[in-house]
Amino acid sequence: MSDILGEMRRTHHCCELGASDMGKEVTLMGWVQRRRDHGGVIFVDLRDREGITQVVFDPRVDKSGHEKAHAIRSEYVLGVRGKVERRLEGMANPKLKTGEIEVFVTALKILNAAATPPFLIEDDADVSESIRLTYRHLDLRRPALQRNVRLRHRAAAMVRGYLDDLGFLDIETPFLTRSTPEGARDYLVPSRVSPGAFYALPQSPQIFKQLFMISGFDRYYQIVRCFRDEDLRADRQPEFTQIDIEMSFVGEEEVMALSEGMMAALFQGVLGKSLPLPFQRISYDDAMDRYGLDRPDIRFELELRDISDIVKGAGFKVFSDVVRKGGMVKALNAKGCIHLSRKEIDDLTEFVAIYRAKGLAWIKVKEDAWQSPIAKFFSEEEKAALMQRIDMEPGDLVFFVADTPKVTHEALGHLRNHLGKKLGLIDENEFRFVWVTHFPMFEYDETEKRYQALHHPFTSPFEADYGRLKDDPLSVKSRAYDLVLNGSEIGGGSIRIHQRELQERVFEALNMDRAEYEEKFGFLLSALDSGAPPHGGIAFGFDRLVTLLCGEPSIRDVIAFPKTQKASCLLTHAPSEPGKAQLEELFLRVRKPA
Ligand code: AMO
Ligand code: AMP
Repeated sequence: MSDILGEMRRTHHCCELGASDMGKEVTLMGWVQRRRDHGGVIFVDLRDREGITQVVFDPRVDKSGHEKAHAIRSEYVLGVRGKVERRLEGMANPKLKTGEIEVFVTALKILNAAATPPFLIEDDADVSESIRLTYRHLDLRRPALQRNVRLRHRAAAMVRGYLDDLGFLDIETPFLTRSTPEGARDYLVPSRVSPGAFYALPQSPQIFKQLFMISGFDRYYQIVRCFRDEDLRADRQPEFTQIDIEMSFVGEEEVMALSEGMMAALFQGVLGKSLPLPFQRISYDDAMDRYGLDRPDIRFELELRDISDIVKGAGFKVFSDVVRKGGMVKALNAKGCIHLSRKEIDDLTEFVAIYRAKGLAWIKVKEDAWQSPIAKFFSEEEKAALMQRIDMEPGDLVFFVADTPKVTHEALGHLRNHLGKKLGLIDENEFRFVWVTHFPMFEYDETEKRYQALHHPFTSPFEADYGRLKDDPLSVKSRAYDLVLNGSEIGGGSIRIHQRELQERVFEALNMDRAEYEEKFGFLLSALDSGAPPHGGIAFGFDRLVTLLCGEPSIRDVIAFPKTQKASCLLTHAPSEPGKAQLEELFLRVRKPA
């Protein structure tokens, strides 16, 4: 068989050679980053995953090689043998690790040609994301993505090492399974051998990891793919990876300490940053009250203030009516921002409208008076009370939203993050972790008119709240915790229910009757009956974590083959329509939307 490599074998990577290798005979293999024809001599920047080396085709050294080199184009694959030489005086490139040397080629093999790439393989190439995703195999050649993929690998290796040292077992769980509810829609897979029946891809390994505890494995982890059919954003993918962890005979403290240790090891190992431990903690109620979101970015202050009590009798009907109807009015004091223009304030009003706020009232605090469309509605006492509550000083610009607690918090919470960025209040080099604890066990879903588990239905309520499961479910707090980093939810977990009776009561609070929960979760209930140890755990969003470690804006920059906002893969054109025969085999017929 003819072998294109022949005797030629690589001796070095394209990052390795330096002044100390002068005179050595070496063989490099890689891609053509750039070819420059300087009259008699041809220079090629040869690239592999480790770096770039300049190779030189000089007719005085190798006449036939030099002739062949004329055919070389960008992204051709070459094997070159040659001698390491010092670059001529003044030709060194201090930006390159190999910038002091070049390799004078004595043997060239063009291992493969390459079509002209649709974009330059460079970090600052100006290309749309859809082109990049269509040619992802080329996009992945860019140094930034090479770095991200490798950092991701390192992070995964470190996590494995850390957990292995602590006795965690890496055990796989099935992908073809039953619905594991985490609040999203399931991806379904039709079964050929059981016509009309479907598997669900797991939204998480939640139930299986609890079963491992019941089986006695004591400490489990997995770096595992999860599947959720939900609306996508910059930090969400339909398939994503979790660092999934479960432990027996523990409470919150052990899970949190383990997580903190793992984060510290990861940030030290990958970024050389030492994290101050333990992480700060905040209750869900406090987080909502002060930051408006359950994933507060605590790198900056700018906290919300509740002024409902002050304005409940005020002449401004928008405010007083909202309070009378059980809503709330909250304020955000943008210190020293009196200079914001009318246009900028209008833009911010549009911004909060995304979160369904019906308006954004504002006050500019001047030395002697307030400049504001709503100033005239407040009495002197109300003004004085507001000044004090919101800490208003000359030069400040204060924003207000009046609405249901949900809308008020969401609008002002996001406005707070938006202003934090816009006003430069955030130190981008800082990593601020915070645990959010004491989540409500349930929330009421207005569209479906029923209660839903805020975390998942296997989370344990606090014992003191068991009694209110039935009659006042919204007041029940759960033993769930989220880990938030710089305003991004990077992990969440809980202490679980390990007794059948309590699990049944929680299912009932979720409006499931016995028949329904026996059908869906009978296997779990019977497992809980078979000697389930107290247990708890957590799962980290690995993609999100790596996004933050890489300092990238989008989760798509740290996933080799990500999906678009419409959950499609531009490279392979998935999802696609199956053939007729395939559908028939599965006993399926497709009904297209009208
Ligand atoms: P949860 O649903 O909070 O918990 O998920 C854990 C973490 O996974 C990440 N994450 C996502 N990342 C990217 N794209 C998505 N669509 C996506 N959805 C979630 C988040 C989140 O914090 N079984 C429980 C964990 C447990 O209780 O132990 C669970 O899955 O960073
Ligand atoms: P209006 O009385 O509608 O002219 O509103 C006066 C000011 O109050 C404007 O700046 C509006 O943006 C603001 N506003 C209206 N509704 C609300 C609301 N629900 N919350 C906060 N501000 C509002």
